[in-house]
Amino acid sequence: MDDIVNRDVNPARPDRGPGDTYGEILARDAVPAPVFFKELPDTDIGTESTPVSRYFDPDFFQKEVDYMWPKVWHWACREEEIPEVGDHVIYEFVGKSFIIVRSAPDEIKALYNSCLHRGRMLAECDGSSATFRCPFHGMEWNADGTLHANPFDWDMPQWRDRALNLPEARVALWGGFVFMNMDHDGPSLEQVLAPIPEHFERYDFENRYKAAHVTKKMRANWKATSEAFIEAHHIIGTHRQSLPMSADINTQYDHPSDYVSRQFTAHGVQSPHIDETLSEQEIFNAFMGGGVDPEANPEMRVPVGMTARAFAAQMLRDMLSAETGHDYSHAGDNELTDSLPYNVFPHINFWAGMFSNLVYRFRPDGMDPESSIMDIVLLKPVPKDGPRPKPAAVRHLDYDEPVTDAAEELGMLLARVFDQDVSNLRYVQDGMRASASRVVDFTSYMEGRIRRTHQMIGDMIARGEASDG
Ligand code: FES
Ligand SMILES: [Fe+2]
Repeated sequence: MDDIVNRDVNPARPDRGPGDTYGEILARDAVPAPVFFKELPDTDIGTESTPVSRYFDPDFFQKEVDYMWPKVWHWACREEEIPEVGDHVIYEFVGKSFIIVRSAPDEIKALYNSCLHRGRMLAECDGSSATFRCPFHGMEWNADGTLHANPFDWDMPQWRDRALNLPEARVALWGGFVFMNMDHDGPSLEQVLAPIPEHFERYDFENRYKAAHVTKKMRANWKATSEAFIEAHHIIGTHRQSLPMSADINTQYDHPSDYVSRQFTAHGVQSPHIDETLSEQEIFNAFMGGGVDPEANPEMRVPVGMTARAFAAQMLRDMLSAETGHDYSHAGDNELTDSLPYNVFPHINFWAGMFSNLVYRFRPDGMDPESSIMDIVLLKPVPKDGPRPKPAAVRHLDYDEPVTDAAEELGMLLARVFDQDVSNLRYVQDGMRASASRVVDFTSYMEGRIRRTHQMIGDMIARGEASDG
């Protein structure tokens, strides 16, 4: 592991990393990947620099608050969290607060969490109630947002003949997630998510359950935090232990639409950064997080003639079948071993795959440009026989609490990897403030998704300012 090298690029593909493409790795797999993993035609995203002020300037932050956040789709909660009428979850971002409530057996609403009288928040936490009664002066609304009682109706002549329903944001559902958007006129959720619903059909998100949900506060702008999770260049610097099992610079990046991008990194294959050729057993050991002793555990020995990747995929396929009772014989090796995140502009990641699916969401922490909240959700398949497990309660981690404090929820291996990412963030934020160039420079291919997100944010702000005149 000391002999980390920078290999020459493949002359046939000078704009890509050295070694095999992700497609070439897939072509050798024992159980092939579905066709939608195929590389898409290149998208020219440019190479312009990005001002660091976008990460801390209060004026830029305010522009995002005014022109971006109110116009994007958010996943607010899972349907399984609000199964009964009156069940509700509070969802908040940049000073906005919504009550996501099951208002009827087949209806979910996102009500503005603000009393029509003098603005007090109506609900302070998740819960279940037939009505929302304002603790300040006692006005009360039904779960569907219609007025239930106004104790001082006689004293509000200006409200007579006026509908007093709580205002609502737009709601749409996909894959067991409840989405909301403050903008009633923009693109539909269907338009924004495409092609995710089609590609994720085989992962059946509706029949997954929330096995873990951790929120972690970070001392970095929401974009800096999100950007730490959407490229594989940081593996050599931040997750060096993964190089023996992660084809980091062979990662494939695609832009299926303006709103959706994706990133496929093969695991169970060594990084081109490592000069020596590792044995399949060494690669498998690294895949398992180290500590594998095939002498003591012969079932952990990679059979002669088999790759670590195929062995790991088959092991996970068998484990998942035993755990859930479902048949995974059709699951591609990559759907069991690889990291396969799809990003939805500007702040959501859904991981494809058969195994536990990670879902992320990034938001500013309140109105602070220099802090953020990352939600980490783990979805698992509902067992074929037996009841649907209850969704996990949210575990909140403050700024100085490591993700390993939630190792019980996420598993120690994953929690440690998150902590490696988190360890950079406050220094990324401070370093950007200290920059002499006043810009950051994303790479052309592997960080193109970050650049595209910045372009989209810039476009939304420009459109918003133009319409303000
Ligand atoms: S602020 Fe809610 S009843 Fe007065
Ligand atoms: Fe990372």
